Amino acid sequence: MTAPLICPSILASDFARLGEEVRAITEAGADFVHIDVMDGHFVPNITIGPDVVKALRPHTSLPFDCHLMISPVDAFLEAFRNAGADLISVHPEAGPHLHRTLKYIRQLGARAGVVLNPATPVEVLDWVMDDVDLVLIMSVNPGFGGQSFIESQLRKIEAVRGRLDAAGNPAILQVDGGVNAQNAGRCVAAGATALVAGTAVFKGGREAYAGNIKTLKGL
Ligand code: DX5
Ligand code: ZN
Repeated sequence: MTAPLICPSILASDFARLGEEVRAITEAGADFVHIDVMDGHFVPNITIGPDVVKALRPHTSLPFDCHLMISPVDAFLEAFRNAGADLISVHPEAGPHLHRTLKYIRQLGARAGVVLNPATPVEVLDWVMDDVDLVLIMSVNPGFGGQSFIESQLRKIEAVRGRLDAAGNPAILQVDGGVNAQNAGRCVAAGATALVAGTAVFKGGREAYAGNIKTLKGL
């Protein structure tokens, strides 16, 4: 089995030292920097805006994987792209027009991702299959780090794997929420190629980050 990409969610890092934390996970072997953007409206929490993304950009050359939990989302896409986002993922419910939003993300020169909440059906992908570079399966309800992995989402990973393969789409299949050493292997076995992890990467202090990332990779 190929080792998954590891995308540490900086939501679990020390917000007073964000630049240092991004450098630390870069040195520790992270593949993407996962940035959770929340608006207090689409999800019940407020986190990071484009200015913070921009301030972090000089601290690493890793791709910035921006998970936008904001609604409506279109008006902010350009700001996140200009701030340095390489991948931009959106929720279909954040709308109003998923297909238009995905096209726009690619037009801006970023890779486009669709995020499926635990209750969102996989069928939403069917008519945007040609417009996605990444599918993100939420294994918790979005809004907070440190929640427990919802086991039913393993079957959804399998279902999306089947759909991507059937379509011949090489999109990244990412899982986000409660991912840890106990379930990472099962996510990959179900077809995931990228794992987001906040708590499981940032636990134990800086000296632990490289080991934490290795464990999640299954190395
Ligand atoms: C939840 C976020 C996740 C979260 C992951 O809305 O999208 O990225 O920060 O954190 P852990 O790994 O702690 O569940
Ligand atoms: Zn996320």
